[in-house]
Amino acid sequence: MLASLSSFRAVPGPASADGEEGAVAERPGDGPAEAFGHLPVMPGECLEALDVRPDGSYADVTLGGGGHSRLILKALGPRGRLLCLDVDPEPLERAGEWSRDDPRVQLRRGSFAGLPELAGDAGSLPLDGILADLGASSRQMLSPERGFTFSADGPLDMRLDPDGPLTAAELVNSLPEKELADLVYRLSGERASRKLASEIVRRRALKPFATTLELAEAARRVVRPPSSGKRIHPATRLFLALRIAVNGELEALGSFLSRARGLLAPGGRLAVLSFHSLEDRMVKDLFRRGPADAPWLWAPLWKKPRTPGASELAANPRSRSAKLRAAARTEARP
Ligand SMILES: C[S@@+](CC[C@H](N)C(=O)[O-])C[C@H]1O[C@@H](n2cnc3c(N)ncnc32)[C@H](O)[C@@H]1O
Repeated sequence: MLASLSSFRAVPGPASADGEEGAVAERPGDGPAEAFGHLPVMPGECLEALDVRPDGSYADVTLGGGGHSRLILKALGPRGRLLCLDVDPEPLERAGEWSRDDPRVQLRRGSFAGLPELAGDAGSLPLDGILADLGASSRQMLSPERGFTFSADGPLDMRLDPDGPLTAAELVNSLPEKELADLVYRLSGERASRKLASEIVRRRALKPFATTLELAEAARRVVRPPSSGKRIHPATRLFLALRIAVNGELEALGSFLSRARGLLAPGGRLAVLSFHSLEDRMVKDLFRRGPADAPWLWAPLWKKPRTPGASELAANPRSRSAKLRAAARTEARP
């Protein structure tokens, strides 16, 4: 069950601390308006990146609340097509309602790591554009019963796919102390990872962790607030690392990135919104170097990633650690 964790070691260095809390935490600015909705991040920039052709075939591989999907649909004509994926059945159920009478939309449950098979079955290939908006939606993050939040009690779950093989509780209750410390440091940059792992192991020997607040309390005991004065909950990085591990997020992204080019028509676009330095580095490396044997196969649209503007940051705090990178499939050495 835990064997897959060893592959995280292939990812170089710990995550940078910058902005990571935005990917996991109860963002202090999140208000009730966002509590169960999910505003699409950098909507204009994403559409610009995809350069939607009215009769093109597109894939939104992280459907979530469907914000980006609906924007793509607005830009598509009657002969365009949109394939929407999610590992979580709940967004697909909701999309089934708003897309019921739209023959352009196909909904599929599955990981974007399996996009070639899913898009092939759906008859969507070749694709003119693929959008990935990584991580979890606000709806998932803020639902206590999903176990991502440390501000309300819930089962220590954290699976994006509710049928996934591993829960966060299973992970924290079974990983050896050193592996737990290494995992937390590597995936979140948490400096107190050793103290945290030791406290978790001490507590779980008395009673296995079952809920989010039990784990948050362990973090509160040993993680000191940052000297910068930033308001970051002591459990922020721990929860981020566990979420990434539980869902195999870096593995899925690696597989998706390495297969995406082969699904695109010449000139087709790949746009990836990431919220974490490890993810962003993987996207950056792909576009900068391409596959090892053919480094000229992507033409990045911008030298640097796009980030949200001030008005979006004010309206949608979830966007604050977002980085958008996009590239077009090229065919020959430029
Ligand atoms: C940030 S949300 C997407 C929000 C969406 N763009 C919107 O505007 O409403 C990410 C979604 O991707 C899903 N997801 C995460 N990892 C996935 C994967 N490997 N394959 C497919 N879906 C995934 C999550 O379940 C979540 O619903």
